[in-house]
Amino acid sequence: MSQFLFVSDLDNTFVGDDLALARLQELLERHRQEYGTKIVYATGRSPFLYHKLKVKKSLLVPDAAVTSVGTEIYLGDNLDTPDPEWVAILSEGWNRDAIVAAGKEFPELMPQAGSEQRPLKVSYSVAEKEYLPLVTKLESRLASENLEVNFVYSGGKDLDILPRNGNKGLAMQFLAKRWGISPSTTVACGDSGNDITLFAVGEERGIIVGNARSELLQWHRENPSPNLYLAKARCAGGILEGLKYFGFV
Ligand code: GLC
Ligand code: MG
Repeated sequence: MSQFLFVSDLDNTFVGDDLALARLQELLERHRQEYGTKIVYATGRSPFLYHKLKVKKSLLVPDAAVTSVGTEIYLGDNLDTPDPEWVAILSEGWNRDAIVAAGKEFPELMPQAGSEQRPLKVSYSVAEKEYLPLVTKLESRLASENLEVNFVYSGGKDLDILPRNGNKGLAMQFLAKRWGISPSTTVACGDSGNDITLFAVGEERGIIVGNARSELLQWHRENPSPNLYLAKARCAGGILEGLKYFGFV
């Protein structure tokens, strides 16, 4: 056994099966103490909603929390100041006010709660049947102002507009590089659309939990790879299964 970088989405991936979560947390904490394994959460939640979940489910203090769909990185338990280097990278070419103004032209877009609107993330709710026609129009509307952004659609309802370089996968690579951990000793876990970038970056190993959403399963069917493991068990149970499959534990 040796050190690895563990990166996991929270809702319906790390969290969702309390018994399996307790087993997984114990295993990860032991691995961290013995081998220096790094634990990273990569969530769509804002720091505010992440903190609520962390307290409610007594989650381990991570080595880093990537919040707001990859657009903010917090080291350890600090949730006051996001990593300034990451903020600087994502801020380039990002014009939040222009995106919000353009969004107002589309009645299909329902802004999410205020806590989920972040400096580097604009989030809406959109019905699944409206998403495809809408995104085409919105894309050309933003392109007309040379606004280069990423659209992330998850769970059949959430639309996040993010900076071009802002996503969970790139945040994971940023941390791996900082800590000197190679892609082959990095493993990411997820269940939905906003986790696709965790699985699409390169040689990193990926665990798709058994309860994954259709948008992620469809992506996986179109992008099969020996580095990706589709677990049978749901949530933390699926993560435990995948960690054993890849030989990390
Ligand atoms: C979380 C966030 C929300 C985001 C969703 C999908 O639920 O709170 O803002 O849209 O994840 O990424
Ligand atoms: Mg999730």
